[in-house]
Amino acid sequence: MKLQNVILLMGPPGSGKGTQSKLLVDKLGFAYFSMGDTLREFAKMDTDLGREIKNTIDQGIIVPDSITKDIIREKFSNFLDKPGVVFDGFPRTVGQDQDLREILEKYEVPHFQVFFLEVDKEKLLKRLTTRKTCPNCQAIYLPDSPEYKTEICKICGSKISIRKDDQDQASIEKRFDEYILKTKPVKEYYESQGLLTTIAGDQADNAEQSIKMVHQEILNKLGIK
Ligand code: AP5
Ligand code: MG
Repeated sequence: MKLQNVILLMGPPGSGKGTQSKLLVDKLGFAYFSMGDTLREFAKMDTDLGREIKNTIDQGIIVPDSITKDIIREKFSNFLDKPGVVFDGFPRTVGQDQDLREILEKYEVPHFQVFFLEVDKEKLLKRLTTRKTCPNCQAIYLPDSPEYKTEICKICGSKISIRKDDQDQASIEKRFDEYILKTKPVKEYYESQGLLTTIAGDQADNAEQSIKMVHQEILNKLGIK
């Protein structure tokens, strides 16, 4: 089998990129790649690179393209024998888009499709400051899930917590600023190329219900039952 599809989920911090990517991967049997999760794994390492990445993420700043370029070049080979891959949060700069396009051309990947999750900033701030995640397997927990109280990840048994970059208001604000400055131009470029579909990322007041509805909307746009 040769890689046919790259689907990118874009959106501001907390818009549901991780949540929707995981649902899509389960449904389609695609591979999953999150640049944020990958960088958080690097950040655990006691090396100069690990410390540089940790420091950058904790401040809410986008990691330099030179680092993400090396990562994507290395990781992409893992996807070549899959029918598709869902990208969560990569590319998020103009330079990263160029890096990805070079790779897609090199491996002759025919289909590249982008979904943009649109949610009000007020709602996003609430989501970020209440979400708990697993630092080991990166599972995401809503406040009304049983694991939120027990703080034990149901997938891997690790202790879940509020992410470091969600604990500091300045870091959250910086992520939004970075998004506007560096990622919005990429979004607008994809839009101008007819590659991007916007999805309302909060389709019901009940969070669990909304997540299902957003997932269904993405499947509808993909023409999948
Ligand atoms: P990253 O980990 O990607 O963080 P982010 O972009 O700030 O987004 P989040 O992961 O916080 O949110 P999400 O959109 O995944 O939402 P989620 O599904 O969790 O990046 C972190 C850092 O890594 C960056 O700041 C940067 O430093 C670095 N980095 C990452 N990518 C990089 C790149 N390409 N280049 C350079 N540096 C990079 O949902 C949020 C919450 O809302 C959850 O609790 C969820 O349950 C809930 N929720 C989801 N959907 C709904 C819904 N429809 N209704 C109600 N609640 C919902
Ligand atoms: Mg995420």
